[in-house]
Amino acid sequence: MSAIEVKTLPWGWYTDPAVLQLERERIFRRSWQYVGHLGDVPEPASFFATAVGDVPVVVVRDREDEVRAFLNVCRHRGSLVCEGSGRRETLQCPYHAWTYGLDGRLITAPRSKREGGIDESSLGLVPLRLDTWGPLLFVNPDPDAAPLENFLDGIPERIADAGIDLNALRFLQRSESELDCNWKVSAENFLECYHCPTAHPGFSAVMDVSVDSYLLETSAGRMTQHGPPRVEPKGAYDPTGEIERGQFHLLFPGTVVNVMPGRPNVSIGPIVPRGPEQTYRFLDYFVAEDADESWIEESLAFDAQVGAEDRVLIERVQAGMRAGLVDDGVLLPASEKLIAHFQALVVDALA
Ligand code: FES
Ligand SMILES: [Fe+2]
Repeated sequence: MSAIEVKTLPWGWYTDPAVLQLERERIFRRSWQYVGHLGDVPEPASFFATAVGDVPVVVVRDREDEVRAFLNVCRHRGSLVCEGSGRRETLQCPYHAWTYGLDGRLITAPRSKREGGIDESSLGLVPLRLDTWGPLLFVNPDPDAAPLENFLDGIPERIADAGIDLNALRFLQRSESELDCNWKVSAENFLECYHCPTAHPGFSAVMDVSVDSYLLETSAGRMTQHGPPRVEPKGAYDPTGEIERGQFHLLFPGTVVNVMPGRPNVSIGPIVPRGPEQTYRFLDYFVAEDADESWIEESLAFDAQVGAEDRVLIERVQAGMRAGLVDDGVLLPASEKLIAHFQALVVDALA
């Protein structure tokens, strides 16, 4: 065996606020991120507030039925304009009642007619790029970023080839989690199944996690794992059905797309840094219209079990890194090659 070791990133990068600040500026503010789906803005005048990395965003469906995204920051003195979700005819800032149309235009600023000094036409909400893949909504704060299609990098075709019509799925639920770890610890845990035999007995009883079946692929910003269920799956989840293989993708920096074998299904959501050692994640689950309730319950419970096991693992990693007495770690060249790819993308972005 070769003695050339592949080193991890310096562990200090997982606790240092200055590194996170750079990641926010150079990675998250320039990247596409999944934010929600068309069902979150079901009719004209519906909206929801969200964030891409640490960039506050509001998504609205305007009167002409166009779905738009804006920076959720008032042009007066910088307050967040919207919170939560619902229906609104205008977007009024709660601080001094500057009021924007659903197209982002500043309609009124109280007293501005009397006092002057405000050029309403140049003070609309800042529009952000929004694009869709079927019902799924993605936002990128960078006006010069490559198109969404590049970011998705063939995943829509893979999902279609697997026999899934994304537009025919129904939204099931959003599962949210707050994790005590750096966002990269969460992403890197997602990027290998080397830990599956040890740490996910339930998952490994259903999926074939052996080296020769569970395949790893990298492309520019896409890191993919895919594989079949076991020939004789045993466990709490029935993986038989139209969808024959699992696929698990990470789109750099943090959008996760999963398909489990079984009935047609997709789950998707972002990994978002909240602080150097805090991470927020959510996953939106979509499933075939005719999938039976017992299968749905089984599959959600199965995924929740894996998620609970992963939380323990990643928070232990963060605690170990935080100790600060070891500079870095090592990666297995094959089983952890997606992590090496991910870390190279981080290094490139920060260089
Ligand atoms: S900060 Fe929004 S109206 Fe003043
Ligand atoms: Fe895991």
